[in-house]
Amino acid sequence: MAESGFESAEILGAIREASSAEALEELRIKVLGRRGSLTLAMKGLGALPPETRKSAGAALNTAREEIATAFAEAASRLSRAALEQRLLAEKRDPSLPVAFAEEGRIHPITETIDEMIAIFGEMGFAVVEGPHIEEDFYNFTALNIPPEHPARQEHDTFYLPPRGDGTRLLLRTHTSPMQIRTMLKEKPPLRIIVPGRAFRCDHDATHSPMFHQIEGLVIDRQTHMGQLKGCLVEFCRAFFGLDDLPVRFRPSYFPFTEPSAEVDIGCSRQGGELKIGKGGEWLEILGSGMVHPRVLQNCGIDPALYQGFAFGMGVERVAMLKYGIPDLRAFYECDWRWLKHYGFLPLDIPSLVRGPLS
Ligand code: PHE
Repeated sequence: MAESGFESAEILGAIREASSAEALEELRIKVLGRRGSLTLAMKGLGALPPETRKSAGAALNTAREEIATAFAEAASRLSRAALEQRLLAEKRDPSLPVAFAEEGRIHPITETIDEMIAIFGEMGFAVVEGPHIEEDFYNFTALNIPPEHPARQEHDTFYLPPRGDGTRLLLRTHTSPMQIRTMLKEKPPLRIIVPGRAFRCDHDATHSPMFHQIEGLVIDRQTHMGQLKGCLVEFCRAFFGLDDLPVRFRPSYFPFTEPSAEVDIGCSRQGGELKIGKGGEWLEILGSGMVHPRVLQNCGIDPALYQGFAFGMGVERVAMLKYGIPDLRAFYECDWRWLKHYGFLPLDIPSLVRGPLS
C-alpha cells in the first residue's frame, strides 16, 4: 500500500468509532468523495511505474472493499443505536388506559331508565326487552284491541309496506306487546319490566315520533288492585325521592286492563315554576290497571286461576319532571352543550375517568 500512498488502518478505525450518522457521512466524503483520499489514490495509479501499478491497484481494491464493509457495518450500528435511544426517550406505556380529551355524559334517558330498573329491581322485577318492529297481533289484537277498535286510530301507527300475504308489520306504539310475548313464553308467576322504545306518528314540543316507555307486568294467583297501588306509590316516591309525595289513582280506560287507572303525582305551580310534591295540584304520569281477563285468555292463562296488573309509563315525561328539562325535542338533538348540562357523569372517580397522561 505504501506504493499508492494510501493507508487504510486509520480510516477503518475512524469508521468503527464514528458516533453519529453525520460523522459517518463526513468520513465517507473524506475517503470516497470526489476529492476523497481513496478516490485520489485510485486516480494516481496511472502515474505509478508499471512494475508497482498492478500490486498497488490490487491493494487499493482490497482496501476499498474493507472500507465499504466498515461503512455498512457502522451505518447499521448507528441506526440500531438511534432506535434504542428513541425507544428509551419515548416513555409511552400502551397498556395504560386511554386518556380522554373530553369525558362523556350519560344521557338523561339512559340514567332515568337505569334508576327505574334499580327501583323495580329491588321489588323483584326482572328486565326483559323486545322487538321494535312488531306484528299487529302483539301490538293490538292480543291486547284486546281488535281491528275495528277505535284505539287503533289513536295510536298513529307507523306501518311497514304490506308483506306478500297482505299483512303489515308496524313499529310498536307502546311496550305492551311484551306483556303478550312474555305471557305466551313463560309460565306465571311473572314479574317483569320492559324498558324500551315506542313509536307514534306525532311530533311537537311534548311528543316525539320515537320515545321510551317502561312497561310493568305482574301475574300471580292472588294479585289484586291493592298491590298495584302499593307498587306504584312506592315507585313514585322512590323515583322522585319524596317520602310524602301525594299519589292519586284516577279511573280511566285501556282496552287491555279492567279496571284501569291513571296515576297522578302531586305538584305545585307557583309563579310558573313546577315543583313536584305537596301543593294541591296534579300531574298525570302513567297508565295502569288489572290485566283484562280476555288478554289472559289470549295468552293461554286461565283468568279463573290467575290475575295480574300492568302499567306503562313514558320515560321522557318523568325524566323531564324529575330533572327540570323543559323541551322534549332537545333529548334527540345531540347537542353536546345540552348533554353537558343535563347529562350525568358515568363514574365520578377522577383517576378512573381520566387516564394518568392527562
Ligand atoms: N300501553 C299504554 C300506553 O301506551 C300504557 C299502559 C300500559 C296502560 C299497561 C295500562 C297498562 O298508553
